[in-house]
Amino acid sequence: MSKLLIKNIKSLVQVRETNVIKVSGTDMKILPCIEDAWLAIDNGLIADFGKMQDFPGITDWKDLKVIDATGKIVMPCYADSHTHIVYAGNRESEFVDRINGLSYEEIAKRGGGILNSAKKLRETSEDDLFEQSFARFSEVISQGTGSIEIKSGYGLDLESELKMLRVIKRFKELNLIPVKATFLGAHAVPAEFKDNKKGYIDLIINKMLPAITNEKLADYIDAFCEKNYFTSEETKQIFEAGIKHGLKPKLHAEQLSHSNGIKTAVECKAVSVDHLEFCSDEDIALLKKSDTMPTILPGAAFFLNLQLPPARKMIDAGLAVAFASDYNPGSSPSGNMNFMMSLGCINYKLNPEEVINAVTINSAYAMGLSNEVGSITPGKKGNVFITKPIASYGYIPYAFGSSLIETVIINGVKF
Ligand code: NIG
Ligand code: FE
Repeated sequence: MSKLLIKNIKSLVQVRETNVIKVSGTDMKILPCIEDAWLAIDNGLIADFGKMQDFPGITDWKDLKVIDATGKIVMPCYADSHTHIVYAGNRESEFVDRINGLSYEEIAKRGGGILNSAKKLRETSEDDLFEQSFARFSEVISQGTGSIEIKSGYGLDLESELKMLRVIKRFKELNLIPVKATFLGAHAVPAEFKDNKKGYIDLIINKMLPAITNEKLADYIDAFCEKNYFTSEETKQIFEAGIKHGLKPKLHAEQLSHSNGIKTAVECKAVSVDHLEFCSDEDIALLKKSDTMPTILPGAAFFLNLQLPPARKMIDAGLAVAFASDYNPGSSPSGNMNFMMSLGCINYKLNPEEVINAVTINSAYAMGLSNEVGSITPGKKGNVFITKPIASYGYIPYAFGSSLIETVIINGVKF
């Protein structure tokens, strides 16, 4: 494999000589950088870096590629710890329904929402689903995402959930960026179990989970803990079954109402608990005593015009906070982490340093990838991006909507 040297970097951002697994509270304001730097990637991994004035020179030019990054910023790629990029079709018509006054809940009650996506997905072949989803997979990489978690949850029957997870497995096997797979059978109760939620939960536990673990299709188990979806008791039951199959929990919680999701996630030692629009002060206290990463999904709160999760309050209380895109057809049809950072700064009052920590180190933690991605650290994946010439890293969230990434490097190679 070739070697890559990026030289004359205006600022090399998020440099952690020794690995840090998460950044909490006031530490989130600290973002170590090296000005006028070089970075070497060898065999797909970060090998070394430093200041240009200390550059040791090149002894081995064999297969070496050199990029001059004068005036440009280099950052580790974003870690997007919560997405649903495997889906069929889109939900543009519901977008218009919402513009015209219907709420997300009203649309769901009329058979739209997640069940609308389930209907489309069931009618789509695995290869077609792969093609449609691959377009999004490469789209987000070109926007700077260098590791990703992807959920099932639009199949809602055994074969269709397997189909989704097999597509996610095909993404993993591309060996492009690290991919984590999450089984989200408990995303909604499918139409055929409308009056028999217990029957559907039995199906998840007794049929889906064994089949999924048999094919080694998932790393995590998730649920939508919410009014009209799954209660905290049902979530707990599903998580306990998942844990027995070796899956760690992640949870959709407190998005549309307070549903005791954070409490459940903490009790089940979830890796992350996500959304959090209705997070209370008691919830913040519970999170402080746990290892669960609270994860804000600003695209969904923006797209659905929800009340905002108390991200600022969480950080001020000493918590670590992650941000992810939630890329999905119903509540966040964008996986652009640059825009998620802008929302973090503008709507949630995070400083650029805090938001960069939230989309790199902390979001890597939220999908169990702390040792592989999230910072410029020797031995981590050579997944970085080079910006266009810009004044500082703060320019990325500031210039919302602009495409400031010029080159994405994955495993030490231009994407
Ligand atoms: O994370 N909240 C639940 N699930 C998705 C949205 C699902 C959909 O509407 O398709 C979310 O926002
Ligand atoms: Fe989600």
